Amino acid sequence: MNNNPIGLFDSGVGGTSIWKEIHQLLPYENTIYLADSLNAPYGNKSREEIISFCIKNTELLLEKGCKIIVIACNTATTNAITILRERYNIPFIGIEPAIKPAALQSKTKSIGILATKGTLNSELFSLTIEEFTKDIMVTEIIGEGLVPLIENGSLNSPEIFNLLKQFTNPMLENNIDRLVLGCSHYPYLIPQLTELLPSHIKIIDSGEAVAKQTKHIVFQNSLQKNTRNKPTLQFISNSTSKTLKFLLEDCLDEIQIETKIF
Ligand code: DGL
Repeated sequence: MNNNPIGLFDSGVGGTSIWKEIHQLLPYENTIYLADSLNAPYGNKSREEIISFCIKNTELLLEKGCKIIVIACNTATTNAITILRERYNIPFIGIEPAIKPAALQSKTKSIGILATKGTLNSELFSLTIEEFTKDIMVTEIIGEGLVPLIENGSLNSPEIFNLLKQFTNPMLENNIDRLVLGCSHYPYLIPQLTELLPSHIKIIDSGEAVAKQTKHIVFQNSLQKNTRNKPTLQFISNSTSKTLKFLLEDCLDEIQIETKIF
C-alpha cells in the first residue's frame, strides 16, 4: 500500500495549485490527478450532481489503487466530503476557504471571500462562517465566470481583469484587509489580483495548509512511500490537456499527461 499513489481530483485544472504544494512537501510520493474538466464548472451545479461527480472520481482513483484521496476542490469538499467519508474506507483530505486565519488576522475586521456559488451555499461553509466570523464583516462574492476562463488558460485576458475588478469593488468599499480565495482555480489569479488590489490587502489561499494536512495524514496512517526512487506523477483529463500543460509547464519532464473519457 505504501507505494500506491495519492489521488487528487478537481472539476478541472485548478487543483493543480494544490498538487504543486503537495508534490513540494512529499516529493517522492506517486500521485494521480483527475481533471474532470468535461464537467467544469462544478460551482453552478446542484448538490446532487456535485456528489455524483465526486463518487465517479473517487471510484476511478480507488480502481487505480490510491491510498488516500485529496479533494482538490472547495465546491466538491463543501458539498460531498461528509458523504464520501461515510461511503469509502479511505482517508479523505478536503479543501475549504481559509476563513479562520483571515478572520483572526484581519485588523479592519472586514474580510472578502471569493468562491463558487456551490461553496458559498453549502452547509459546511455556513457553519464555518458562523463559528469564526462573529465580530467580522464578511463580503461573500460568487466568482461567476472565472473558472471557465481559467480552464481555457485565459489568465491575462481583459475579461478576467474586468471580472476581478467587478468582484473586488464591493470588498474594497467594505474596507477588507484579507481576501480569501475559496476555489482552487483562483491561486492562478494571484498575480492579477495583486496588480488590482492595494498592497495592504493580503490574499489567503488554502493550498499550503492542505499539503501540510496531507503529509500529516500520510504519516499518521503510516502510508508514506518507502523508497526514494523517481515518483510516477500522472495527470488524467477528460477534456483537452492544453491548459494542464500550460499550468504545469515547469515540470513537464517529470509528469505524464493523458486525455481519457471518465
Ligand atoms: N476548483 C473548484 C473549487 O475549488 C472550482 C469549482 C468549479 O468547478 O466551479 O471550487
